[in-house]
Amino acid sequence: MSNVDSTSRPGSLVIAVDGTSGSGKSSTSRGVADRLGLRYLDTGAMFRAMTWWLLREGVDVRDEAAVAAAAGRPAIESGTDPLAPTITVDGTDVSVAIRSDEVNAAVSPVSAVPEVRARLLDLQRTVIGAGGIVVEGRDIGSVVWPQAEVKVYLSADPDARAQRRTAEQGGTDVASTQQSLLERDRIDSGRATAPLTMAEGAVHVDSTHLTLAEVIDEIVALATGADRA
Ligand code: DC
Repeated sequence: MSNVDSTSRPGSLVIAVDGTSGSGKSSTSRGVADRLGLRYLDTGAMFRAMTWWLLREGVDVRDEAAVAAAAGRPAIESGTDPLAPTITVDGTDVSVAIRSDEVNAAVSPVSAVPEVRARLLDLQRTVIGAGGIVVEGRDIGSVVWPQAEVKVYLSADPDARAQRRTAEQGGTDVASTQQSLLERDRIDSGRATAPLTMAEGAVHVDSTHLTLAEVIDEIVALATGADRA
């Protein structure tokens, strides 16, 4: 059922993991990459890095024209080791700063701006082009790399997602975390350019009642099948 490409060879395998905010894409993708000896790319971190930079530059993130005009300026670089992924903007490590509430609140509108998407799409395709990688995001299987050998659409109930995300951040306010996740889902799914959607050929994995290890096992099994084809 996976989108098997008969020309795939070990080392060139691309696994696309798309899904809603907080569905476990990062832990899952990193775990799969580690198990299979692949690289890992967090495209959400790239949109977050762009957003962090716009906020720091004082660009009004609700002003689409201003965001579009600035989108070409920051140099964004992703390190692809699944055990220690990194993200830098103009050489500054922003791994922690991009998880702030300010970035959470602004990243979906920024991600809806076509010039932002076009800029990051180029960077994403350059990294993915070397092959052997697990890529997580919203539009990887549909737009960024539709030829991925394995495509997964990861989802989980909003309650489960909010509980997990709150625990991850060491917080206690599950309700407000859930509200923030759902608001991002709403904008990410409703935007005109590359909305969050289940790509053609994607396998839907609902992680609500699965452990992380079970989800990783399921995707590793899909990938192993795709590589043998
Ligand atoms: O996966 P994340 O929560 O870190 O992603 C942050 C935001 O980035 C998300 O709300 C939408 C955007 N995003 C996107 O538009 N396309 C992607 N491929 C990845 C993320």
